[in-house]
Amino acid sequence: MSKNDTVDRVRGPELELSTSIGKDDSALVIGLISASSPDAEGADDAAEPTLAIGDGILDDAQAAAITAALTALGATGSHGEVTRTAAPETLPVDVVVAVGLGDADNLDDADQVRQAAGIVARELDGLESVATTLSAVDLIAAAEGLFLGAYRFDEFRSEKSRPKKTPPQHITLLVESKSKEARAALERAIAVADSVAIARDFVNTPPSHLYPEEFAARARTLGSKAGLKVEILDDTQLAAQGYGGIIGVGKGSSRLPRLVRLSHTAKKSTKKVALVGKGITFDTGGISIKPAANMDAMTSDMGGAAAVIAATILAARLDIDVSVTATVPMAENMPSSTAQRPGDVLTQYGGRTVEVLNTDAEGRLILADAIVRACEDDPDYLIDTATLTGAQMVALGTRTPGVMGTDEFRDRVAARSADVGENAWAMPLPAELRADLKSRVADLANVTPHRWGGMLAAGIFLKEFVPEDVQWAHIDIAGPAFNTGGPWGYTTKGGTGVPVRTIAAVLEDIAANG
Ligand code: BES
Ligand code: ZN
Ligand code: MN
Repeated sequence: MSKNDTVDRVRGPELELSTSIGKDDSALVIGLISASSPDAEGADDAAEPTLAIGDGILDDAQAAAITAALTALGATGSHGEVTRTAAPETLPVDVVVAVGLGDADNLDDADQVRQAAGIVARELDGLESVATTLSAVDLIAAAEGLFLGAYRFDEFRSEKSRPKKTPPQHITLLVESKSKEARAALERAIAVADSVAIARDFVNTPPSHLYPEEFAARARTLGSKAGLKVEILDDTQLAAQGYGGIIGVGKGSSRLPRLVRLSHTAKKSTKKVALVGKGITFDTGGISIKPAANMDAMTSDMGGAAAVIAATILAARLDIDVSVTATVPMAENMPSSTAQRPGDVLTQYGGRTVEVLNTDAEGRLILADAIVRACEDDPDYLIDTATLTGAQMVALGTRTPGVMGTDEFRDRVAARSADVGENAWAMPLPAELRADLKSRVADLANVTPHRWGGMLAAGIFLKEFVPEDVQWAHIDIAGPAFNTGGPWGYTTKGGTGVPVRTIAAVLEDIAANG
């Protein structure tokens, strides 16, 4: 298995605009809007769900036949309901696959369309090429949802367990006209979805194959290809330059740490955004070792790094008019005779000392070095993201990232995150927690002596390293980065790619509004 299998692979279906069903398409995927509930005036046109189709794609007879067949099968159009029926003779496909969009109002909610598209994309295995009218509802949402729902990661399966039926390799997106706007919208959706898939691939690659040196090499390959400037510091350079947090966390492993820096330069804007992402390629906890149960999920502990790398690549692909530099610390947290001990004191990049009371609170140690380095560039904004605390899941569950930081920017990040359906939620940084990070011997301890507000305490720790004049947001994605349950919507199992789209939306907001 060469590394190119992951770096160069095709990460999703080929998406193509067309005003008519293609000759290779064997199915038509169509949105179904649920029957409106009878209103006060007693409307009785409420019985049947309706097809969501653009003008000129189906004729009235075809639409009526499909609606009748779906209704006979009991389809209601409720959100996410998938119904298959034979296609009318006059259509050049064998089968119609309907996906419920829910109420008509949902058509204006991009994430409802994206989720429905993702759900149906997960039900199309075995169909090589399909056409869809979901693009007539919301081209971008449909394209993103279909691409992400069709995402698979089978790199480590041999013929024995490789699925025989795969998701569509080609999807014809039906539109009323192949306008310049439609082409641009599709290009954008593909860039977004493919970048999310890059982040998913990184998270899904097991720690045996993705360790700091290899992670850095893949980031370099993908970053260079996108036109980013790439710089990598190896362990010797990190030690020489005083990156005590990254060295301290990484020194228990035979796979030595790295710091990757990727830059995209704005064409016009002078605004600078620093991105920082936690890149622990595996977190055993170190000497403060984790219990065996579910430790395998710690392959996702580089989800923040994956997201900021992918988001920086996306900034280049979309040519977002803001300068972006990702500073990405990568280390493996292992117990060994060379590992740091509970009680050790390390010196972070920039000179602050930290007493490591718990080696399992390692993310904040590598992030602190990276944040200080990132802020040497004088950014206007700093976004860091990390699978930082189990407390994030206790507070917000597995799908809702917590966002902390400077009040205004934190709220802006939460708002953009809601816009794209990633739904990060603003959380406070209670000042009183700072006292609980006092150390007996050093400037700061890496944990509090209690477990209350664990996500917020980690945020308070990071805040110590963020300059006053930088607008800052910290996004804890411990749960949302990795889907350990079944697939839902466009979220497949394993790496989710959260919060790539939130970061991209914030970058575009800054490019547009400063
Ligand atoms: N990587 C973990 C956090 C995590 C937990 C991510 C579960 C994803 C799923 C992090 O390094 C960690 O171990 N945090 C500790 C902090 C504690 C020692 C203060 C935790 O949450 O228990
Ligand atoms: Zn960790
Ligand atoms: Mn840990």
